[in-house]
Amino acid sequence: MAILLIFYLLCAIALPAYGDAFIGVNIGTDITNMPSPTETVALLKAQGIQHVRLYDADRAMLRALANTGIRVMISVPNDQILGIGQSNATAANWVARNVIAHVPATNITAIAVGSEILTSLPNAAPILVSALNFIQAALVAANLDQQVKVSTPHSSSIILDSFPPSQAFFNKTWDPVMVPLLKFLQSTGSYLMLNVYPYYDYMLNDDSIPLDYALFRPLPPNKEAIDSNTLLHYTNVFDAVVDAAYFAMSYLNFTNIPIVVTESGWPSKGDSSEPDATIDNANTYNSNLIKHVLNNSGTPKQPRIGISTYIYELYNEDMRPGPVSETNWGLFYANGAPVYTLHLTNSGTIFANDTTNQTFCVAKSNADTKMLQAALDWACGPGKVNCSPLLQGQPCYEPNSVVAHATYAINAYYQQMDKAAGTCDFKGVASVTTTNPSHGSCIFPGSGGKNVTSTNGTALAPSTNSTNSGCLSQYYNGGSLRSFVILTLVLSVVVLQN
Ligand SMILES: *[C@@H]1O[C@H](CO)[C@@H](O)[C@H](O)[C@H]1NC(C)=O
Ligand SMILES: *[C@@H]1O[C@H](CO)[C@@H](O)[C@H](O)[C@H]1NC(C)=O
Ligand SMILES: *[C@@H]1O[C@H](CO)[C@@H](O)[C@H](O)[C@H]1NC(C)=O
Ligand SMILES: *[C@@H]1O[C@H](CO)[C@@H](O)[C@H](O)[C@H]1NC(C)=O
Ligand SMILES: *[C@@H]1O[C@H](CO)[C@@H](O)[C@H](O)[C@H]1NC(C)=O
Ligand SMILES: *[C@@H]1O[C@H](CO)[C@@H](O)[C@H](O)[C@H]1NC(C)=O
Ligand SMILES: *[C@@H]1O[C@H](CO)[C@@H](O)[C@H](O)[C@H]1NC(C)=O
Ligand SMILES: *[C@@H]1O[C@H](CO)[C@@H](O)[C@H](O)[C@H]1NC(C)=O
Ligand SMILES: *[C@@H]1O[C@H](CO)[C@@H](O)[C@H](O)[C@H]1NC(C)=O
Ligand SMILES: *[C@@H]1O[C@H](CO)[C@@H](O)[C@H](O)[C@H]1NC(C)=O
Repeated sequence: MAILLIFYLLCAIALPAYGDAFIGVNIGTDITNMPSPTETVALLKAQGIQHVRLYDADRAMLRALANTGIRVMISVPNDQILGIGQSNATAANWVARNVIAHVPATNITAIAVGSEILTSLPNAAPILVSALNFIQAALVAANLDQQVKVSTPHSSSIILDSFPPSQAFFNKTWDPVMVPLLKFLQSTGSYLMLNVYPYYDYMLNDDSIPLDYALFRPLPPNKEAIDSNTLLHYTNVFDAVVDAAYFAMSYLNFTNIPIVVTESGWPSKGDSSEPDATIDNANTYNSNLIKHVLNNSGTPKQPRIGISTYIYELYNEDMRPGPVSETNWGLFYANGAPVYTLHLTNSGTIFANDTTNQTFCVAKSNADTKMLQAALDWACGPGKVNCSPLLQGQPCYEPNSVVAHATYAINAYYQQMDKAAGTCDFKGVASVTTTNPSHGSCIFPGSGGKNVTSTNGTALAPSTNSTNSGCLSQYYNGGSLRSFVILTLVLSVVVLQN
């Protein structure tokens, strides 16, 4: 009982896991049969995707994202930036229509003002910082500036001499924009938005950049890149580009602005001049990128600052002009089928059901019995799982052990939460598996319903009317190490007192 109480207590004192890097996904819409916002949100939920970036502020999409817990970065499209940069009233109007009208139901966390303005719309460069300032002023007036960050995504091509990273600097043509921009980011607690495409770096320099280095594959020691000024070792292009951006900022004396990668990815198909746009390379790049980001290990220059990254992109956009690769950056086809199956074993629950068609949440066999009991109690109580199949005489009563019963209950919770990210952790005692734990007539939720009719339990499937979102679902999101340590400490105290 004490354990259960502590579980509730922890809900109150749980610290938000700030600082943990996340993976998001860009949602481009240049698609002949664009899925409806509802279909897109269903795909995001099924894949455990918790962060998205939109290239506009589409009202129907923002409504579909309401009350999903998904964090949303919206964008001021380039064709609206001149108006906003020239008139604070236009900016205020934009914020009213596209932000104030949707929060807090839709969790808008950032506004990307324009896209690669310096390189794709240079005549708007002189008003870029005004546009950011006007948007910021409107957010301040609405008291939303703490929760919504304002910035503008850059192409990494504005960084010159980017290897070795320690010698990098921003193209000096843009200093009159970059200096006030960095001041703005610093004073508002925002971050530099950067698009990082090792694919293009490799395409343009394939004699000097090995493919393995672009794809995060291990390199022989003689091929490892070493920055001779800092002696930092670079094992992949992504880290080198991000560090070049840190050094370019410090060249202008800005040393405390974090970086978020607003786009990164690899195309899965190309024409004859794009031989490295293949399914295998795309899968390798994106799988390794996701593992790299979620490992939260930062870059050689800033090893303690994880780099949150938005993958480019959710869907293949068949209507995009240009070479074949332009239409093949997506993780999914427009019908929701995956373009390839990411290799993400042991890297959390995002895209969890991409690794196979069925995943389950099970108790780790070596887990502490008291923690398993607490997880079981929570799932069957506040978690609103139907635990009646665990009762004596019911199909899942045997084997009558804490680990078996906890496995049933936490899996039922995980399925009930649509396998959302963070719902299979339970303080580290649970993990996702592809092995169906059903046994005998005890059929686990998530195993496909084929066998449900052959059992005599009435409600083996999770109850559809329980829309629980207790503290665990929020609390278990993101890095749980700190929480785990707290729990362990609290538990040891309890054990000592007993
Ligand atoms: C625009 O700026 C002017 C001058 O600074 C100020 O008086 C006015 O209130 C601002 N309008 C809005 C909508 O913020
Ligand atoms: C919105 O997202 C932020 C950043 O992840 C988070 O701190 C906050 O709790 C979220 N708000 C809601 C209402 O979910
Ligand atoms: C720097 O930017 C200017 C303006 O876009 C461009 O003309 C010039 O070529 C860039 N310099 C380099 C070295 O790329
Ligand atoms: C950065 O700071 C150094 C030392 O204070 C100064 O000499 C240099 O001019 C500054 N650079 C810029 C771009 O402000
Ligand atoms: C994960 O991070 C740890 C340190 O935080 C680091 O030692 C390790 O090399 C990283 N692993 C990968 C695959 O990046
Ligand atoms: C997943 O389902 C698809 C379509 O039903 C099938 O083609 C594929 O082989 C399945 N993958 C696995 C790993 O079972
Ligand atoms: C992922 O799981 C959801 C719900 O279980 C299912 O609807 C969807 O088809 C799955 N996606 C893939 C790619 O297997
Ligand atoms: C249902 O489960 C039973 C017991 O595990 C098994 O023998 C049977 O083959 C299953 N039926 C189907 C259709 O999967
Ligand atoms: C129904 O439950 C009884 C008692 O647990 C069990 O003996 C029997 O096998 C179950 N029937 C099916 C079809 O699972
Ligand atoms: C779900 O609905 C049923 C019937 O409407 C009701 O008896 C049950 O208490 C509900 N369960 C929850 C968890 O709300």
